Amino acid sequence: MTFRLAHISDCHLGPLPPVKRRELMSKRVLGYVNWQRNRAKAFVPGTTETLLDDLKDQAPDHIAVTGDLVNLGLEAEFENAGRFLAGLGSPDTVTAIPGNHDAYVPGALDRFNLHCAPYLASDARTQQTDPYPILRHRGPLTIIGLSTARASGPFMATGAVGRRQRDRMAAELATAKGRFRLVLLHHPPFDNAGAWHKRLVGAKRVRAVWQEHGAELILHGHTHLSTRNTVSGPDGPIPVFGVSSSAQASGGHKPPASYTLFEIDEADSAWTVTAVRRGYPVTGGPVQELSREAFQTNATYPVGPAASQA
Ligand SMILES: [Fe+2]
Ligand SMILES: [Fe+2]
Repeated sequence: MTFRLAHISDCHLGPLPPVKRRELMSKRVLGYVNWQRNRAKAFVPGTTETLLDDLKDQAPDHIAVTGDLVNLGLEAEFENAGRFLAGLGSPDTVTAIPGNHDAYVPGALDRFNLHCAPYLASDARTQQTDPYPILRHRGPLTIIGLSTARASGPFMATGAVGRRQRDRMAAELATAKGRFRLVLLHHPPFDNAGAWHKRLVGAKRVRAVWQEHGAELILHGHTHLSTRNTVSGPDGPIPVFGVSSSAQASGGHKPPASYTLFEIDEADSAWTVTAVRRGYPVTGGPVQELSREAFQTNATYPVGPAASQA
């Protein structure tokens, strides 16, 4: 039976709530100026809502949200983020991870974790207060949700995955071998995916985990670009997909809002995946299918005729 997974990212929910002067006494003042100058024009109200109407019509089994739900890490923004996730679906059907904007200033990530808690909860209850990595099983999927989010200095938007998360991811990837192992992280796991000040610090150490244990699909946000790359796995390349910001209006310098719908089937010791991009065309117009691509991902399966096509 086909399992349908939707991926959206970088919702940057607006409009900005009223900002108190004392709340701007931090890195936020830069983000506030940036919002007023650039983002308020790029993130036109209604863009995300119309995109999500289309997504809901597709009735996916699960929705992955790969971070940057908010902008300045304000309390009212996180309350809005919690409502936004509830509007997407039940915690059973939606998994969210944080981005750098969700950890914009020290303490912000705690507020994200609080307001979005049901959508970050692992299946097994643990005593630990840090929810990451998120470990969930949905249909044929084992979902591993990493947090790369950490408060960084002015003009910085870096991320990192600490050793504890990497070790737990490695253990889960080993345990779940044979299932469709989906990894979510906000920053792209490459050294040259974007500007230096926005990079994932220690990306090589994260890739080393996948190189050893494999995974079937890796999804990220942060670049606001719809991209398809691969990283090395033990038995072949592992697909890595990025997606444009769900809030980006047409006509900006970044591609307009879109989401990816993955149709996942298990067949003959391999996973067959069809990735359908839906969103606003660069040339303008309503939300529609933008591209469709089928591939096989079978990093954990015995190498056979199907595996050779991975
Ligand atoms: Fe973003
Ligand atoms: Fe980001």
